[in-house]
This record gives sequence, structure tokens and C-alpha cells, in this order.
Amino acid sequence: MSAGAAISRLWPAPSAGGLDDAELAALYGREDRPHLRVNFVTSVDGAVSLDGYSAGLSGAPDKRVFGLLRMLCDGLLVAAGTLRHEGYGAVRLDATRRAWRRAHGLAEYPTLVVVSGSLDLDPAQAAFADAPVRPVVLTHAAAEAPPGLAGVADLVRCGDDRVDLAAGLAALRRRGLGQVLCEGGPHLFGALTAADLVDEVCLTVAPLLAGAGPGRITAGPAGGHRELPLRHVLAAADGVLMLRYAREAEADGDGEANTDTTADADTAPAPAAAP
Ligand SMILES: NC(=O)c1ccc[n+]([C@@H]2O[C@H](COP(=O)([O-])OP(=O)(O)OC[C@H]3O[C@@H](n4cnc5c(N)ncnc54)[C@H](OP(=O)(O)O)[C@@H]3O)[C@@H](O)[C@H]2O)c1
Repeated sequence: MSAGAAISRLWPAPSAGGLDDAELAALYGREDRPHLRVNFVTSVDGAVSLDGYSAGLSGAPDKRVFGLLRMLCDGLLVAAGTLRHEGYGAVRLDATRRAWRRAHGLAEYPTLVVVSGSLDLDPAQAAFADAPVRPVVLTHAAAEAPPGLAGVADLVRCGDDRVDLAAGLAALRRRGLGQVLCEGGPHLFGALTAADLVDEVCLTVAPLLAGAGPGRITAGPAGGHRELPLRHVLAAADGVLMLRYAREAEADGDGEANTDTTADADTAPAPAAAP
């Protein structure tokens, strides 16, 4: 861990000093029920990117939490737009994080889950071709797969002519992917918010003004709003803030989506990860 990645807690209880990885992992944690966590980095003035990419907003502290959140999840959900634009590679974790997962009864790597309505995806992209775990693509019944895609990913069809995200998350749960981390992008976040599927938002605020131009971290048709209580405030020495917001656990306890639906997979479901 580099000095620039030192992170301490400001609120609710200030930490005595920098937090180690075990303390940070405990602060984010895993839920005992299905859970959708969304992670973004933004500028002070709300930009989703700098010069077109998120990298300009990110730094050592954000990368550290970004990696820890990957370590904690079962499924890593990303929109096709971000996958293509940011050139996602294979989702890999270092030996320490893989050991942590094994010790906690998890699969060695999280499963990459890509949301695409068009299936305009390149099977040769490293995210698919080099994946340590066969990725899942959430799409709909009318989407036509390009040659080779079904060879490198399981296509799960939810909805007739658009991706039904609630059904998609239910399909992931049936595969043992109950703890889902969404890394964006803004259109997927907007759709998940509109469908009221977001349980938690982890937001890194970079201490800079991006100025007018870039979009927000959310995009798409306007929808309703709701409260999302603040859970913790972390800070790094260079002025980066890491905020965690999460809704209250629901009283009924099953955490299932409201939708009773089935999803057809082009291939057999993967075995469930250990709880
Ligand atoms: N600051 C951050 O933390 C952060 C994080 C992620 C991304 N970004 C930035 O966001 C930008 C990319 O954003 P974007 O506008 O391309 O948005 P996006 O949400 O990443 O991608 C949109 C595309 O993803 C698929 N998709 C998203 N939601 C869908 C849904 N509900 N149903 C079906 N398909 C869905 C569609 O792909 P198909 O066309 O295949 O149907 C859609 O065209 C980049 O500049 C990236 O750097 C920033």
C-alpha cells in the first residue's frame, strides 16, 4: 500500500490513524442478504469522467477501495458501454485477496457480469477471452449474439426486448451471485435507480473541479428519488473523500426482487459459490 493510499475514518467515529485492509474490508463488508452495491468516482462538481475516462478522477486511495470492493463481491456488474470504453481486461485479484476470498468460503474470483441490450460485444476483448471465471452477459430475448460470444460467456436473457434488470439480478442470485458490485456506467446506474434496485452507493469524491462538459454519474430517463442514508466518511491525506451510503435492510428479510420471472440462459448455470 503506498503512502498516498493511507485512508482513515472521519465519521461516525474517527479512527486513530490509517486503516489497514482488514479494517477497511470490515467497514464495507458483505451483507447476509442479496445486495447491490454501486461504486463511482466523481469530481467535486459531479463529473463522471475527466477527458472522457474515470482514470483522471481516480488515485491511489480510490484504487485501493476499488480493489477491496472487488474482493468482497460475488458478481461484478458493468454496463457494456463502460466495458467497451474503458477497455476492461480480465477481472483478476492478487494472491492476498484471493486467499481472503478462499478463507471466507468464496470463489477465488468474482464473476464478471456485463449488461448489454445490443450484444455489440467483442468476444476477443480480454474481459471475456482471458477471464479466470466464465463471464455472464445479461441481455434480452430479441438480442442477436455476435459469432463467438456464446463461446466465452453465458448469455442470460431477461425480458423480451429490453433487459429486465430485476429479473437479471434474480438470475444472478440463482447462480450464487448474491453480493453484486456495480462499477457503472451512468446509464446502467440510472436504470438500476429507476428500478429501485440500488442498496448502496460508494462514492469517491476527488478534490478537483472538472468544469462543464462531462456527464453526471447517472444518466437516462428521469425517475423518482428516495433517501439514501450516509453510513461512513473516509478520507485520504490528499483530500480524497470516500463516502458510503446504504439503505436500511428491509423488514421482510428475503431480499428477493419483486419480480417473479424466469431467465433463459444460453448455457447451463454455473455452480453456486459457497456462501
Ligand atoms: N466515474 C466513474 O466511476 C465511472 C464509472 C463507469 C463509467 N464511467 C464513465 O462513463 C462513461 C460511459 O458511460 P455510458 O454513457 O457508455 O454508459 P454505460 O451505462 O456505461 O453504458 C451504456 C451501455 O451499456 C448497456 N446498458 C446500460 N444500461 C443498460 C440497460 N438498462 N439495459 C441494457 N443495456 C444497458 C448498453 O449497451 P449496448 O449498447 O451493448 O446495448 C448501453 O448502450 C465513460 O466515460 C466512462 O469512463 C465513469
